[in-house]
Amino acid sequence: MEEYDLLVKLLVIGDSGVGKSSLLLRYAEGTFSEHHLATIGVDFKLRTDTVLNKRVKIQVWDTAGQERFKSIAIGYYRGAHGIAIVYDVTNEQSFNNVKNWLEQITDHASEHAQLILVGNKCDLDRERCVDRARGEELANSLKIPFVETSAKNSVNVEAAFSKVVTKVVEDN
Ligand code: GTP
Repeated sequence: MEEYDLLVKLLVIGDSGVGKSSLLLRYAEGTFSEHHLATIGVDFKLRTDTVLNKRVKIQVWDTAGQERFKSIAIGYYRGAHGIAIVYDVTNEQSFNNVKNWLEQITDHASEHAQLILVGNKCDLDRERCVDRARGEELANSLKIPFVETSAKNSVNVEAAFSKVVTKVVEDN
């Protein structure tokens, strides 16, 4: 039997197509796929790490961004120790919708959940429409950390998740 000191449950939310599954795949398996296979309901991946001298089992729940699956995901908010709210830096609407995802958090998550705002697809320079400063400003106003990532080029993915995991381990 695998032994660990702490089980950390993370949830990844955001509009359909922003790259939630891709971030998970990069984080848990170190791979990337160009194909968009929309998540149906929820899915999860596991990873184990040593954080602050503790053996941590990290369970990352990947939710479907599509509206019709929202109600399924809601059941997973309550138990989440950490939540990554993801938008796509080439998709203005996905950035504007961050406020709607925050409402879901307020309504359904624990008030102790550690949040992070993630602007994904930062490799797509020419198509970018949400600049870094706007993401930073939003995160500052919410008093949560912010990071821009590329699941494709493996930029900051590790940093994004480990920020949240470390905070959770510190709290527990
Ligand atoms: P739902 O399951 O519908 O909620 O979507 P999702 O947020 O899980 O998106 P997914 O990971 O399936 O990615 C959508 C598309 O964006 C796929 O074609 C990915 O290959 C692409 N993609 C994801 N991350 C990146 C990235 O960092 N850079 C680039 N260029 N493309 C990305």
